[in-house]
Amino acid sequence: MDWGLQNRLAGIINPQNNRALMLAVDHGYFLGPTEKLEDPAKVIAPLLKYCDSLMLSRGVQRACVSAATRTPMVLRVSGGSSIIGEDLSKEDITVSIQDALRLNASALAMSVFVGSKYEHQTIVNLGRLVSDAQQYGIPVLAVTAVGKELGKDARYLSLACRIAAEQGAHIVKTYYCENFEKVANSCPVPIIVAGGKKIPERDALQLTYNSIKGGAVGVDMGRNIWQSENPVAMIRAVRSIVHGNSDVNRAYEMYKKLSSEHPKRQDGQNTQRPNTSPAPEHTPQNTP
Ligand code: 5RP
Repeated sequence: MDWGLQNRLAGIINPQNNRALMLAVDHGYFLGPTEKLEDPAKVIAPLLKYCDSLMLSRGVQRACVSAATRTPMVLRVSGGSSIIGEDLSKEDITVSIQDALRLNASALAMSVFVGSKYEHQTIVNLGRLVSDAQQYGIPVLAVTAVGKELGKDARYLSLACRIAAEQGAHIVKTYYCENFEKVANSCPVPIIVAGGKKIPERDALQLTYNSIKGGAVGVDMGRNIWQSENPVAMIRAVRSIVHGNSDVNRAYEMYKKLSSEHPKRQDGQNTQRPNTSPAPEHTPQNTP
């Protein structure tokens, strides 16, 4: 592997423990002002130091994230459809490699819609993106998107993940499901698990724990962090599972303790002030 590619990947998946905590804030690219993500800058600032990488669109990166950050950016480069449009699976690549380089992207993320009307287009786009990005040492994260008509079971997800890996994706993002081990074991590249729609905090921590136990390197979590009553407490609890080897009980106790120390404000944001000190080292020994 080229040094640049390896180095970028190391910023996303910690090579010391092979674990990853990616914070997803890219939802607006097809959902518009998603609930509790209406003001991305406000959401991102207090959470940035607790994630290993941030997944977002170029518009939000330029407008809402300080260029002084040292957190790796996972840039969403696919789009073209909206939640009120004809078909969500009709996506194309919307960002050039040149612009991704200007944004110092650590990885490029795009969705593949296996089994959808636009399956062919999105899989071919993934192959092309890998070929282009590989020339510059930029890894590609393939997002196995699911729709109403697409399944979310181990049979479907292992098919989708394997196809994405066969096209050359360096990391695959998918969903947790029953028999998740089957999905992880048949995918030759690292898998991260999306959080999905908001569920109770303890359940989201259980999902994190189960995903790692089932073979994922970590999570790419969005709504279950920033739609939580206490986003900072939640990301720290998730981090304690990903990097601190906490079990669910310990992580949930941590969430409750941190929540009581920093009760939420009227506007739903956590009262903990954004801390601009360097992020903690991502070592398993670290207290998350
Ligand atoms: C949207 C995405 C999201 O980044 C992904 O689903 C993770 O966010 P969440 O945990 O809210 O599901 O790729 O297409």
